[in-house]
Amino acid sequence: MSGEPGHPRVGTKDFLSVLDVSGTELAALLDLAARLKRERALGAAAPTAAALAGKHVALIFEKPSLRTRATFEIAVRELGAHALHVPPSSIDGEREPLEDIARNLERWVHGVVVRTFAQAKAAAIGAAASRLHVINALTDEEHPCQALADFLTLREQWGSWQGHTLAYVGDGNNVAISLAHAAAMLGVSFRIASPAGYELPPAAVAAARAVATGGATLTLVRDPREGVQGADAIYTDVWTSMGQEAEADERKRLFAPYQVNAALMAAAAPGARFLHCLPAHRGEEVTADVFESSASVVFDQAENRLHTQKALLLMLLG
Ligand code: CP
Ligand code: NVA
Repeated sequence: MSGEPGHPRVGTKDFLSVLDVSGTELAALLDLAARLKRERALGAAAPTAAALAGKHVALIFEKPSLRTRATFEIAVRELGAHALHVPPSSIDGEREPLEDIARNLERWVHGVVVRTFAQAKAAAIGAAASRLHVINALTDEEHPCQALADFLTLREQWGSWQGHTLAYVGDGNNVAISLAHAAAMLGVSFRIASPAGYELPPAAVAAARAVATGGATLTLVRDPREGVQGADAIYTDVWTSMGQEAEADERKRLFAPYQVNAALMAAAAPGARFLHCLPAHRGEEVTADVFESSASVVFDQAENRLHTQKALLLMLLG
């Protein structure tokens, strides 16, 4: 990270994982995002309105998206750059190898935002093109951009990160993995309650523990009530992620005891917030009353996708 006036930079070429940045860089990114949020009202007069003028960013989505696609497109535009929508069929490997696609793209664009299945596919694009900045817009394994927005939201709610506890209830999936990484790096203790067979993967646990700071702990439990006990926020995600649709019935059965409802919220600390990356399924992972309650900050999270991704683009491509 350089201390150049204007805004800081990250040392990494690609952002495929929260672990690609240091804890210092992550905190700087979130500080920058908070500044960009305040300055957004300035519109074209914002200091960063032309920061990426003349740059192009390709957006490739192999899975559905509302929030990530919309916020990246707006982020690119609000920084003075141009977004290029590349149809997902272009990278299915049928017409030409992925490595060739990456080496074409880097001759035209500065960054690629990619939502795909295997994390290895996003990594392969980055590895094939040394000048192309690749951003993970969700893979089966990680959703780092979501975690950026979530920890900005949590600081807005809590005033700080260190010393707080975030409880995650449900599937140890892509969203949970990136949250575990970021929590550890920012000094937030992370407790995750999952059914057997759906825990946070051991590699994610080890990686998070290796970067933990400020006394942050990572605890895996089975019982959702134990998981949320005294927590400052409860987070959940869908029981069936994109690509797992064939398992939906089995998952509904296994995850039923993991629903975030008023009783579970009451077991957390007084004033605990409710978070969800969205889309949410009312009546499954969260009840409608919790989703609509004053504890719910889900639309703040959605808004913060924009500000945090603007900060990421500036620090990566600026
Ligand atoms: N939270 C999130 O990534 O939403 P989308 O799938 O709509 O992009
Ligand atoms: N875990 C979910 C997150 C969606 C934003 C999925 O991968 O479908």
